[in-house]
Formats: sequence, C-alpha cells, structure tokens
Amino acid sequence: MDIQQNEDIRSRIRTIPDFPKPGILFRDITTLLLDPEGLRLTIEKMAAQVDGKVDLVAGVEARGFVFGAALAVRLGTGVLLIRKDGKLPGATIAEDYALEYGTDRIAIHADALVPGARVLLVDDLIATGGTARAAVRLLRKAGAEVVQASFVVDLPDLGGADALRSDGIQVASLVAFE
Ligand code: PRP
Ligand code: ADE
Repeated sequence: MDIQQNEDIRSRIRTIPDFPKPGILFRDITTLLLDPEGLRLTIEKMAAQVDGKVDLVAGVEARGFVFGAALAVRLGTGVLLIRKDGKLPGATIAEDYALEYGTDRIAIHADALVPGARVLLVDDLIATGGTARAAVRLLRKAGAEVVQASFVVDLPDLGGADALRSDGIQVASLVAFE
C-alpha cells in the first residue's frame, strides 16, 4: 500500500514538538484513537496489509495494546500482551533492549505461546526499532514464528523498519513521518 494514500490516517495524528524532551517531534496517536472513523480506518487498513495466516496478534505495551487488540478482533485471533517487565503475575520469559540511556526489559508469560504459532507483532510506531526487535527476539525465544510486524507510524530516518527487515521480518506501516 502506498503510504501517501493514507492522508486520512496521517491527518488525524497530532504532532507535539519537544516532547518528551527538546528536539523530539512526538507523533501523538491519541487524536487518531479519539476519532471513530480514524480508528475504524486504521484497523481496516492494518488488516488489509496482513499477508498470510496469523494465529495470534502480539501487542507491545502500552499503545500497541490498543491497536493489537482491535486488530485481533478484526482478524479473529487472541491477543498476547508484551509487557514491560514486572507486571505479569505468572512465570515469564524476558528480553532486554537498549534505550538511549540505559536498558529496559519486556516480558511475556512463559506458557502464553504454542510452539510454531504464527504471530503478528503490532505497535503504534517504530522509531529506532529497539522495542520491536526485542519483541521479535522474545517471541522467537518462546517458539513463535513472527510472520509480520505492523505499525501505524514509521519514522524511517531512525532506521528501525530496515533493521527489523534485516532480522528477517516483513514490515508494514500506514504512515511515514520523515
Ligand atoms: C514507544 C512506541 C514504541 C516505541 C518505539 O513506546 O509506542 O513501542 O516507543 O520506539 P523504538 O522503535 O525506538 O523502540 P514507549 O516505550 O514510549 O511506551 P508507551 O507505548 O507505553 O508510551
Ligand atoms: N516513540 C519513539 N519516538 C517517538 C515519536 N517521535 N513520537 C511518538 N512516539 C515515539
């Protein structure tokens, strides 16, 4: 899909300069979520980009939960919550990833995945790709086959989508902000 065609999505995403720190243009999807037609169009278009059979959608905390759950309903699958570490009550497996300063850790329940499950990874946005690449490592460690990663927004200048492709993942997005 030509991302330039998705002006209906782009126009509903608000840009807030200097959040969370000076120099960052924050692409705020809360305005897209508040708009019933915007939300509906987003889920329809993400569903149309899905290539092949998907057994389970995995959404990344927190904004990825919203799109992941809605897309799972649309595709007729369940949704797996990839959480920031320390939030899940059962036995977990976790993966560390680098932030600009320091590291963070994401986790899933150890018994959440059937080995060989075909998983669609979903988040609102890919920037450096650090979060999504860690999510892929975590899902693969748990025995899943990550068939695609889908985002509403790609920030291509930060290289995350290309890095994910170099990990062997098919990447889809609706809107790019250069
Ligand atoms: C944002 C966004 C992605 C990640 C993208 O999440 O929702 O998960 O950053 O950045 P990256 O490609 O450089 O890893 P954030 O960690 O801010 O969490 P939130 O959804 O809870 O706000
Ligand atoms: N996550 C990482 N970079 C971001 C940005 N520029 N806008 C919104 N969320 C982000």
